Amino acid sequence: MILVTGGAGFIGANFVLDWLKSCSEPVVNLDKLTYAGNLHNLDSLADDPRHLFVHGDIGDSALVAHLLQEHQPRAIINFAAESHVDRSIHGPEDFIRTNVNGTFALLGAAREYWEQLGTDDKAGFRFLHVSTDEVYGSLGPQDAPFTEHTPYAPNSPYSASKAASDHLVRAWHHTYGLPTLTTNCSNNYGPYQFPEKLVPLMIHNALSGKPLPVYGDGLNIRDWLYVSDHCSAIRTVLNAGRPGEVYNIGGWNEKTNMEVVHTLCDILDQARPQTGSHRALIHHVRDRAGHDRRYAIDAGKIERELGWKPEETFETGIRKTVAWYLDNQPWVEAVTSGEYRHWLERHYGART
Ligand code: NAD
Ligand code: TYD
Repeated sequence: MILVTGGAGFIGANFVLDWLKSCSEPVVNLDKLTYAGNLHNLDSLADDPRHLFVHGDIGDSALVAHLLQEHQPRAIINFAAESHVDRSIHGPEDFIRTNVNGTFALLGAAREYWEQLGTDDKAGFRFLHVSTDEVYGSLGPQDAPFTEHTPYAPNSPYSASKAASDHLVRAWHHTYGLPTLTTNCSNNYGPYQFPEKLVPLMIHNALSGKPLPVYGDGLNIRDWLYVSDHCSAIRTVLNAGRPGEVYNIGGWNEKTNMEVVHTLCDILDQARPQTGSHRALIHHVRDRAGHDRRYAIDAGKIERELGWKPEETFETGIRKTVAWYLDNQPWVEAVTSGEYRHWLERHYGART
């Protein structure tokens, strides 16, 4: 079996659902259920004995040690994190607590467990750490995309905390021999993404007739990857990646934020026709502090060495995503109450 952390969040939940669709190996899912964790993402597994959910913190070493001893996983896949840049600007403490101290505690428990395994289990064990392209910092318009050798230059409290966790993972391999794998992926989009991030926020606001808040000039560039392609890349790295290595994952889909928002508006104009285009809702608002201008991923290594390729283009993935949100409005309504409204007031209230 495998131990997944953060498996009630956006990518973790997609990973667990895809994993149990594609193989029979059970999953222990450890999640703290912060505002971003949602057990409804896993409703379809309610009667599935292959999925065991445990409510807890990756920083709780005693709990993690107990889970490892009890379930004897062959791998740990660490998705658990605070993941939203804007929240990290308002309150970096949680990011240090989970992304840095939490990963440190998880590595410690993993090492203790791994060291007492028998020879074969020890050789087969993997600690896969899920990270982001944001650790590499910001690119100029003519710069080559990030490779695994691009020096780290994180600019936000979020990316700095993820960079710190990547360094810890690297050191636990180099110093203690823990068989680690690190993946650095570009921006994901798809089902179950919390509507604080660009794509689901724009869909949600457009459907409610609310302004679409584009930061600054909207010409910041991100590389976009459909979430199930990220999940398939992680499975590939887990199966065939070389311990101690880093793999960049991306979709070769560089888009400005304006292009993304225009595409979403145009799809919604077809799916939910109204008088005038949803584009009329676009509002430029005050820019994000320290806003990185461009991210781009060179995914050549994982393609060449492990034979992975994304299945979706941006055009197919974004249509599937809009369709999912239209078909799952009760999910959106459930996650956009309480804490979510408080966040919108706090973050966007002063921007417009
Ligand atoms: P998310 O915020 O949607 O989910 C994070 C999950 O982790 C939640 O279920 C939350 O409850 C859980 N969690 C938080 N703190 C925890 C703790 N201390 N112990 C246990 N569980 C905890 O995030 P996401 O978008 O699914 O991202 C998952 C991982 O992928 C993160 O490590 C993130 O840095 C990385 N990543 C995300 C993207 C992206 O575009 N979303 C891109 C590249 C990498
Ligand atoms: P986001 O989804 O927060 O991901 P990240 O900051 O990790 O790349 O934001 C993606 C881009 O969209 C980023 O350049 C910031 C921008 N953005 C907006 O313009 N408006 C918004 O309301 C949000 C949430 C993001």
